[in-house]
Amino acid sequence: MPDTRVRRRRRFLVCEPRHFAVQYAINPWMHPDAQVDVDLAQEQWRTLIDTYREHGHEVDTVPPAPGLPDMVFAANSAVVVDGRVFGSYFHAPERRPESDHYDMWFKAAGYDVHRPESVSEGEGDLIPTGRYVLAGTGFRTSREAHREVQEFFGVPVISLTLVDPYFYHLDTALFVLDEDNICYYPEAFSPGSREVLARLFPDAVLATREDAMTFGLNSVSDGLHVFIAPQAEALAARLAERGYVPVPVDLSEFHKAGGGIKCCTQEIRS
Ligand code: ARG
Repeated sequence: MPDTRVRRRRRFLVCEPRHFAVQYAINPWMHPDAQVDVDLAQEQWRTLIDTYREHGHEVDTVPPAPGLPDMVFAANSAVVVDGRVFGSYFHAPERRPESDHYDMWFKAAGYDVHRPESVSEGEGDLIPTGRYVLAGTGFRTSREAHREVQEFFGVPVISLTLVDPYFYHLDTALFVLDEDNICYYPEAFSPGSREVLARLFPDAVLATREDAMTFGLNSVSDGLHVFIAPQAEALAARLAERGYVPVPVDLSEFHKAGGGIKCCTQEIRS
């Protein structure tokens, strides 16, 4: 018998993919000679936003800036807990100017932004659960940033080491289902980190490499609905068995840059 799931209304921040392209390679998914269909990308992105709104979520948008082809990946620009904004400092020089654009949006919306001192890529690697901030490291966000996050929010930060370059951000290997539970692909983590996750989340939904390679873990859950890549069919079926309602949204054009649904979505937690 699946438990009863409860939807909580979310506020999301997103950025239109007007300037989206694959122009450099900073993860194994990116091939600069890849053809990106910009019209299709725009259409897929709009479907995601419409789907969020149809499910009762609030969506705000940051204006896209020319010359920043990865700016659509809003999750990387900050992590927001209790209305406090921990901004970003990108690993790749190509992405560093994105932080100023997002900061301008936050400041105009009345938030102060803390700019991290070391490499930190927002919700790409820093994932708040009910009790902790799960924090990825190994490819992008640094351990120093984990310490800074804990000091800033006063929430226990659980450092997790990522070991597979295809899952270079924590949000490609793990997502939060609700206050108490997560879904993740264990082999994306070091043995010790795997054990930590198993201790903290004994009831987690476990994913396979195929689920992860189809961007199934780059999903967004509102506690009931799980906005998930349609390619991750097997994982969606397992989530349905656990009482969640999968809502497929195809962002295949963005997979060419190593991103999916969650990468395009930042949550503003007030
Ligand atoms: N091309 C981008 C990068 O490698 C993709 C970012 C995906 N974002 C995410 N939250 N995983 O930085």
